[in-house]
Amino acid sequence: SHAVTKPAGGPFPEGFLWGGATAANQVEGGHAEGGKGLSIQDVMPQGVMTPPTEGATEDNLKQVAVDFYHRYAEDIALFAEMGFKVYRFSIAWSRIFPNGDDEQPNEEGLAFYDRVLDELEKHGIEPMVTISHYETPLNLARTYGGWTNRALIGFYERYCRALFERFGHRVKYWLTFNEINSVIHQPFLSGGIPAPREELTDSDLYQAIHHELVASGRVTKLARELAPAAQIGCMILALPVYPLTPSPDDVVAAMDTAHASYAFGDIHCRGEYPGYLLRYFRDNGIELDVTEQDRADLKNTVDFVSFSYYMSICESADPDAASGPGNLMGGVSNPTLKASEWGWQIDPQGLRVVLNDYWERWQKPLFIVENGLGAKDQLVEVDGVKTVEDDYRIEYMNDHLVQVREAIADGAQVLGYTSWGCIDIVSASTAQLSKRYGFIYVDRNDDGTGTLDRYRKKSFGWYRDVIASNGAAL
Ligand code: BG6
Repeated sequence: SHAVTKPAGGPFPEGFLWGGATAANQVEGGHAEGGKGLSIQDVMPQGVMTPPTEGATEDNLKQVAVDFYHRYAEDIALFAEMGFKVYRFSIAWSRIFPNGDDEQPNEEGLAFYDRVLDELEKHGIEPMVTISHYETPLNLARTYGGWTNRALIGFYERYCRALFERFGHRVKYWLTFNEINSVIHQPFLSGGIPAPREELTDSDLYQAIHHELVASGRVTKLARELAPAAQIGCMILALPVYPLTPSPDDVVAAMDTAHASYAFGDIHCRGEYPGYLLRYFRDNGIELDVTEQDRADLKNTVDFVSFSYYMSICESADPDAASGPGNLMGGVSNPTLKASEWGWQIDPQGLRVVLNDYWERWQKPLFIVENGLGAKDQLVEVDGVKTVEDDYRIEYMNDHLVQVREAIADGAQVLGYTSWGCIDIVSASTAQLSKRYGFIYVDRNDDGTGTLDRYRKKSFGWYRDVIASNGAAL
């Protein structure tokens, strides 16, 4: 296990929002039900491991996923049993606008999320909605080139208008784009950009990012008009970057890599491009199409900053430094850390570093909206009850939450914590079901077999106790 100092116990701030998180494409299934159109996920049966397929294929586990589309009431009841105060989920854009460029929203899609919200309300669970979580409507990718096309700003705005009009009175927390800083590494997944990464220039990618940032600002303004109580947050893939050695060359290399992600928070929180990014554009001959209206839209800054946290990375000035298998972003391996079965290096203290860093940089409330351990689980029978003895997951989460408490003691303002994949889901990077994150085991396998029955893992009871004690049980 990892060397973390366990501080004296004690609760988290009053009203701390404990919960869990998922994304539509990873849990819902029902991929062609209720008038839903195809999204980019329907052509990604292997996640980011292989290029997208032409059309939807039946080997795609996401067509059924864990069937939340039909079992949401049962699942939300289980979340309530753990005491969730908040549930973060995404709305599938292609349920609301099946082709992305439709004139009118699809009523059946809106009605589904009404039912989900009813269920949450019944249990007193606060909803948090990710508006776009790696599920751009396929038509917007294939016909328009995804976010490289300025037209997407208008389609996204129309989609958000439909959401704010329908749900604005009952959803307080909204996130505009999941892990917005991953576009550079994962253009199709994160930006709906169909061209292979090698064929895209930095200008293409930064133009696409610019469109997303403008769209985010524009709908933040729209939310102020249509849903005045709404809190709008950005969502960043947090990846603290450590220099591999104390060499100043490595320190500067780490700074440059960190800037590539900081830029997103800087723009979302300050409403303009930071100097180091403008310099990067100058040095690399990147020229963006930025209008006066764009600049005004960017001024609509966010209310809070949310982020995912799974690992830290190292950076080195030496191009031959060993790179780790990492997540969606690459990076140099840290020789001091152990890794998960998927090679993701485990660094609880990195979460304290991120919380301090973001708080000091932006002075906006923070929300940890993803964190957790993807691991292979074994369903066993204990006293006649099927369960998973996932002590490794409990240890991972306990160590991370202790660091959240440390960061709060350091002065960071943290609104809440939603663990990732609170129920087993289909993985985003590898599209596997065997990479399990949940407190709730779903009986479904990588070959698509299984009953879809749900079972409480050992971590289910652990998390319930953590929430009931407001963190004192850590
Ligand atoms: C984040 C995504 O990158 O990490 C999630 O927002 C994803 O959608 C999560 O599931 C974990 O990654 P993976 O590849 O293990 O599913």
